[in-house]
Amino acid sequence: MSPSNRQKEHWGSRIGVVIAVAGGAVGLGNFLRFPGQVVNYGGGAFMIPYLLSFLFIAIPLASSEWALGRCGGRLGYHSPFGIYYAVSNKSRFWGICGGLTGLTPLVISMYYIFVEAWCLLYALQYLGGLMQIYGLGFSLLNEVKPGLQLSSEEYGALFESFTGMTGDGSLFKNAVSPLAIVTLVCAAANFYLIYRGVSKGIERFSKIVAPLVLLCSLIVIARILTLGNPTGTPGQSLIDGLGFMWNPTREVVTESGDVVRTSVLDSLSNPEVWLAATAQLFFTVSICLGATCSYASYVKPNEDIALSSVTATAANEFCEVVLGGLMAIPPAVMFLGIQSADKFGSTFSLGFVALPNVFGQMPAGQFFGFLFFTLLFCAAITSSMSIIQPTLALFQDSLRLSRTVGVLLVCLVVLSGTAFVCWFTKDLAALDAFDFWLANFAPFLGGILQTILIVYVWKLSNLQKEWDGGAIVKLPRFVGPILKYVSLPYLVLIFAFWCYKNLKGRIADVANNDVAQHSLVFIAVLAFGLLALSWFVIERWRKEERQK
Ligand code: TRP
Repeated sequence: MSPSNRQKEHWGSRIGVVIAVAGGAVGLGNFLRFPGQVVNYGGGAFMIPYLLSFLFIAIPLASSEWALGRCGGRLGYHSPFGIYYAVSNKSRFWGICGGLTGLTPLVISMYYIFVEAWCLLYALQYLGGLMQIYGLGFSLLNEVKPGLQLSSEEYGALFESFTGMTGDGSLFKNAVSPLAIVTLVCAAANFYLIYRGVSKGIERFSKIVAPLVLLCSLIVIARILTLGNPTGTPGQSLIDGLGFMWNPTREVVTESGDVVRTSVLDSLSNPEVWLAATAQLFFTVSICLGATCSYASYVKPNEDIALSSVTATAANEFCEVVLGGLMAIPPAVMFLGIQSADKFGSTFSLGFVALPNVFGQMPAGQFFGFLFFTLLFCAAITSSMSIIQPTLALFQDSLRLSRTVGVLLVCLVVLSGTAFVCWFTKDLAALDAFDFWLANFAPFLGGILQTILIVYVWKLSNLQKEWDGGAIVKLPRFVGPILKYVSLPYLVLIFAFWCYKNLKGRIADVANNDVAQHSLVFIAVLAFGLLALSWFVIERWRKEERQK
């Protein structure tokens, strides 16, 4: 069956596409990963490369990926594999590159669902606390009373024990832990919604959930903005919290007890900061990771993409920098102080240790904690659908599977990886390895390849034509050349600089960590599978073509 014979699937409405894409983009990346990276990489010093990458990478790459996607969809393909193959005039090389691009969303989905389950579990825990008023309190976390009211140290210990950071296999030790069950429930919800289809499942669901996310976050932020200086300690006001995020330099206490100011130049000359900032944009806008081009391929042939892509990207940035920035860092500084803010650097401890501690001290904290984790979970589920959809599209494009068989196959592959992450939970080593290699490192390769494909193979003239088709507002003519003369060199430069300075160290880290090695082997097996799949399918297509 040729792709054009398949029943065509499209989004229901133009506003629906924008909501679904923005809903896919706004996720844990905005509310957890972004604030975590800001704290980790020096506040304002991180924001400089971040804003540059937003201008030079996110906007041009996102809009060109929409164009690539809509063009591919018109030719009957919905995954990067089929789309790259089609727009490169059926080149084997580009088809295989597209097939390998499928690796990023596939692997990311495996751990994303796991973190989604943490959010749901915390939300339920707070709900259990709220229900106590009616005498119906419950707790899903072992040995914890309903709600989350603990001492500062206990929050950390609770997080470690409930995620299984204490040892591999601890989620399955005595009895299957509630987290493993909640993870399975989240996975089932995702697969069900994807099975319903892009317009009946993803679009409808996003239209209900996206306003909910916005509403909950506005309520939480209104609370934070009206707290003043809740502990009365100098240096812990809202302004200090914002300063912590935006000042490019800050005072830190050295080991010998001296107070020194960090330097912007030190941060800017560190390739790790540039890599992290640019990768954060790839992740949050979901570009060059298979998701955006897959979603855009369901846009009707003559419907606008230029305005839609800019709207969705801008909406995502608003949710990240304004909402995500306000919701996580300032309250942590206001309640726990800047000194401890330096310590809650890791992405997860900010969200799952520092913030519950903050809610524990805040008036009506149980309620706001419930809202916060509910909004995290809602944002996460619309994103995880957009991470899984490209894999389904890949199987459908290549194997011409029906929706049911396709979803079952995706379910099998994704759950095998989720099981891997749920088993190797000691220090979250598997999750970290997956996240670093597929969400920080691989997007650069994917981004460089996709930009080369668009600029040199598909050509800027076709890109411009695609943008203009159906455009409500035309994109200015300089966006295409920016892709060629700014975005591509920018990506290559950062990536080469990072490889030169940091790759060796990273490889040494892997050599010292068994689980990181297992994870890389696991990734390599998947990559090989995708390579073989793309190869055979392209051979078959070529044969069919010759026989015509
Ligand atoms: N952008 C999402 C977030 O910020 C994550 C995401 C959505 C994603 N779709 C993706 C990541 C596809 C990789 C691939 O949470």
